[in-house]
Amino acid sequence: MTNNNNHVKIFDTTLRDGEQAPGFSMAIDAKLTVARALQNLNVDIIEAGFAAASPGDAAAVRAVAEEIEGPIICSLSRLNESDIDASALAIEPAKSRRIHTFIGTSPTHRVAKLKMTEEEILKKISETVAYARSACDNIEFSPEDAIRTERAFLVEAVEAAIEAGATTINIPDTVGYTTPEEITDLFSFLCSTVKDAQKVTFSAHCHDDLGMAVANSLAAVRGGARQIECAINGIGERAGNCSLEEAVMALHTRKDHFGVETQIDTTNIFAASQALARVTHNPIPRNKAIVGRNAFAHEAGIHQHGVLADKRTYEIMDAEAVGMPSNSIVLGKHSGKHALAARITSLGFEVTPERVGEIFIMFKALADTTREVTDADIVRLVTGANDDGRSGPWRVRRVELRAEIEDETPPFARITMEHDGGERRTVTSEGEGPIDAAFAAVCAISDVKGHIVSLDLHHIAAEGVVRAEAIVAVEEKRFTGVSQEVDVADAAVSAFVAAINQAAAMAGAREQIAGAA
Ligand code: KIV
Ligand code: ZN
Repeated sequence: MTNNNNHVKIFDTTLRDGEQAPGFSMAIDAKLTVARALQNLNVDIIEAGFAAASPGDAAAVRAVAEEIEGPIICSLSRLNESDIDASALAIEPAKSRRIHTFIGTSPTHRVAKLKMTEEEILKKISETVAYARSACDNIEFSPEDAIRTERAFLVEAVEAAIEAGATTINIPDTVGYTTPEEITDLFSFLCSTVKDAQKVTFSAHCHDDLGMAVANSLAAVRGGARQIECAINGIGERAGNCSLEEAVMALHTRKDHFGVETQIDTTNIFAASQALARVTHNPIPRNKAIVGRNAFAHEAGIHQHGVLADKRTYEIMDAEAVGMPSNSIVLGKHSGKHALAARITSLGFEVTPERVGEIFIMFKALADTTREVTDADIVRLVTGANDDGRSGPWRVRRVELRAEIEDETPPFARITMEHDGGERRTVTSEGEGPIDAAFAAVCAISDVKGHIVSLDLHHIAAEGVVRAEAIVAVEEKRFTGVSQEVDVADAAVSAFVAAINQAAAMAGAREQIAGAA
């Protein structure tokens, strides 16, 4: 172990600090799904939970330890023997294990929370870290609230832990209070002052209360930290932890600046972020760095022109580098003729520049009334079909949903839809719930094999309506349907139909082109 090498370990705490946050609690299956994504990312350490917190968390840590290979599996413990015993037992099946133990060291923690003197805390560190070391040879010690701890006492606490056998010293900014300059200085100070500093890895654990967790973690690396504690999508206590994807991509993209590397397989970042959002039911904001839907999307005409000529004009990373399906050009009111022409060609149409000019006028008029112009809108503008506002051949005529709560009857939906050609079809489907059943019925009626990727519903109390956005995957392509209805079920079904209609419209346009050729 050394602080001088250029490998920065990624210690992922999504399953511990991350899942402690309200709204992010995960049962065993959910934790295993995320742990598999972390294994694919090739993180160095997975903090799988806090074994002493509950029997369920102990079982989850054990399940991760039994299945996951590669990363070191770690469990958190307060600085006492029974917590350490619980951690040791839970991580026992893992090939590589770590126990992480902590105690508050700042004046507020000592006086208000622990009611212990500095001497008592130092004694506890010496005795209990040694106890942990007798159970596991990989021990991480954290002086909680290190940032607000007096430097002299922090050095004493850290030296006591190293002497007792700690192998990693984590310096938490528990309350997200520090700044980049301050934390660089603190790590440089600790690395050069602490006795036997070269025997351990120094680690940063930054919270995002002032929005500086990533900047502070990177600044800690500049000061000598060689482990960053972080979480997927930046989840964690209060405003969250340092976001794994942001810290890793910053180190990766600006290797020229930081001069260090991680072992993360960045192409699995998007999948990990999606898996976490799915199992915790917390959607990722569109503008989230690295993993948000807009992170690699361009709508402004000047940007689109530049990106079409050479991606590097407005992109510092490739979407593929983080495993994100390419969505770079989003057509909207800021888009220009170059982007429109490129999309028309990619949809399989051959049109003259004069025709592109005519379509561009209609496109701008449409773009002024909608957030995003979809591929189906483009098909409609090119073919001139369906000018009643629908993007596709299907119209919903009747929706009947049945949800049973204390009944054995499975939920079902009966949907009637009418095709522009005049055909009317009614299908009844069962599903996990009535909405799921309705989606199945819509697919059966339209002969489009779609599956729902995401469904966002927002109740706008002031307007008394529900806005729905459904993203539906059909083969390799994704379609976005939006709707606004008074009822939540109607909104969900209408958004799904809007997306399915787009897929049907595109399939129809392709058939027309093939027939004409
Ligand atoms: O924020 C914090 O101080 C922690 C410790 C347990 C490391 O999460
Ligand atoms: Zn924390």
